[in-house]
Amino acid sequence: MKQLIDKLYETGDLAPAEYRELIDGRNPELAEYLFEKARDVRIRHYGYDVYIRGLIEFTNYCRNDCYYCGIRRSNREAERYRLTKEQILECCSTGYDLGFRTFVLQGGEDGYFTDDRMVDIISSIKSEYPDCAITLSIGEKSHESYKAFFDAGAERYLLRHETADPEHYRKLHPQELSLKNRKKCLQDLKKIGFQVGCGFMVGSPYQTTDCLVEDLLFIKEFSPHMVGIGPFIPHHATQFAEKPAGTLELTLFLLGIIRLMLPTVLLPATTALGTIHPRGRELGILAGANVVMPNLSPRSVRKKYMLYDNKICTGDEAAECRYCLERRLESIGCRVAVSRGDHKSFQ
Ligand code: SAM
Ligand code: FES
Repeated sequence: MKQLIDKLYETGDLAPAEYRELIDGRNPELAEYLFEKARDVRIRHYGYDVYIRGLIEFTNYCRNDCYYCGIRRSNREAERYRLTKEQILECCSTGYDLGFRTFVLQGGEDGYFTDDRMVDIISSIKSEYPDCAITLSIGEKSHESYKAFFDAGAERYLLRHETADPEHYRKLHPQELSLKNRKKCLQDLKKIGFQVGCGFMVGSPYQTTDCLVEDLLFIKEFSPHMVGIGPFIPHHATQFAEKPAGTLELTLFLLGIIRLMLPTVLLPATTALGTIHPRGRELGILAGANVVMPNLSPRSVRKKYMLYDNKICTGDEAAECRYCLERRLESIGCRVAVSRGDHKSFQ
């Protein structure tokens, strides 16, 4: 099995059956071997720097009804909120002073935020903080909308593909959403010139090893600049409330594999990973990740952006999160980089 890791390390690729064998045959010793290689690759390209992205969760209104998601439209329990442009700029100001040079605007698919409103927000941030990168994570839009956001100054876009297996996709989403359109959006974003991130939840309901192999093959072929993966965690007001969460162990193993597949990829150790284990994010970095995304949302709305139960950091101020992460990263020999942290191909 170590030969498969050596092959992945040397070539960045495996055959589908080999990915399956590696995932199903994993054990703690093999995982440690994989993480050593993954760290080696990460250090070669990015040293001990970990990039921070300031996450601004600016709306929890959503027209979609993804079965796993705590802010899906049919969750009547969710208390809805939207930040104003001024509040968003206030988050950026706090974030800038804390050393953030990337702002990630994330939200549900909220009709209130028309293209014109988004363009206004993006250009306002850009004119006040020309040295910062803006990442959007606001779901599926038309080519035209994406182009307008790009022209206004947004340079990166996160859109997890969620699962590359069409049947699995059906089990996680209602009819009106399709993997085909999700993939089309990713292609559009790339063509327009965004640095693009795809990704998936680990351990989402009905996920099999074959689904994961499909995910890895899709990621290899699409060759994104960023990959967001984190464990699925149930939310009590969804139909997946009783489903088990994804595991730390499998998430870390997949982070290690992805680092070897795409050596220069920007790979976050996610909040969900920090939620299922107290040192989840540190362990993610030690498995090959090199990005963390602390929360910059105002404290008053944090608890309302509950994608899953028990989400961490919902009571903390932005500065607390920032310095807490710095200490955590230093404890594993890494340091927070105050820079935009672009993908190598964009530097
Ligand atoms: N609306 C945008 C979109 O669809 O890309 C961005 C917001 S959406 C809440 C961001 C990500 O949260 C999703 O891509 C999904 O993978 C993740 N997510 C949603 N519910 C989750 C859950 N229960 N556990 C873990 N991650 C979840
Ligand atoms: Fe829209 Fe989750 S269903 S953000």
